[in-house]
Amino acid sequence: MQIFGVDIGGSGIKGAPVDLDKGDLAQERLKVLTPHPATPDGVADGVKQVVDHFGWTGPVGLTFPGVVTGGAMIRTAANVDKSWIDTDARALFTGRLGGLPVVVLNDADAAGVAEMQFGAGRDRKGTVILLTFGTGIGSAVFVDGALVPNTELGHLELGGHDAEKRASSKAKEDHELSWERWAQRVQKYLAHVEMLFSPELFIIGGGVSRKADKFLHLLDGIKAEIVPAQLQNNAGIVGAAMRAAQLT
Ligand code: BGC
Repeated sequence: MQIFGVDIGGSGIKGAPVDLDKGDLAQERLKVLTPHPATPDGVADGVKQVVDHFGWTGPVGLTFPGVVTGGAMIRTAANVDKSWIDTDARALFTGRLGGLPVVVLNDADAAGVAEMQFGAGRDRKGTVILLTFGTGIGSAVFVDGALVPNTELGHLELGGHDAEKRASSKAKEDHELSWERWAQRVQKYLAHVEMLFSPELFIIGGGVSRKADKFLHLLDGIKAEIVPAQLQNNAGIVGAAMRAAQLT
């Protein structure tokens, strides 16, 4: 079965039909730039452009970089325009897409759902935590494969700061940190998350998962196993489509 997935991020809106048996994109994805400011209307236009490009007429799953309740309601917007807060994103996207059935979920939750089914978390029991390091830090917590949604561990406090402001990959760029300096911060962050949850496994996702060889070996003192995500850039699209499959 194929379902359409869209990943809405701070820099791009990416989408493609997903082959749900393989857990992979069925066609090459299309990316359009996220408008700035990333307002609901501007983002909805980008989503329409991506979906229309494929002539898609079925269910659509979308990720959002903030808390999303009930598959629809946006509750936080740390890295996109604040006017998203309390927007009914399902109504917005369904309206813009001519009535197509739509479901929306947090971006890290979507990536986690995909990794647990098709990637680094396959068949893993116990507590598994996926963390995405990008513009912010996203989190997805699983217990015996079941998602605890909207955990927002990127906003834990680290050394008196919002953790994602210290340890995201944007923080690495903003503060021009070497891999070693950045890895020290990530290690401190992981130690804090480990203290709270004692997971069996950490899956490291987001853009940096492609560069795992640059920093995974620098992390030590963490008891949990630490592995890079496997679906990398497509995890959000695949996870969004998996969730939308439940609409059929
Ligand atoms: C948001 C999360 C999101 C993460 C990654 C954070 O700032 O609060 O909801 O998952 O960024 O995009």
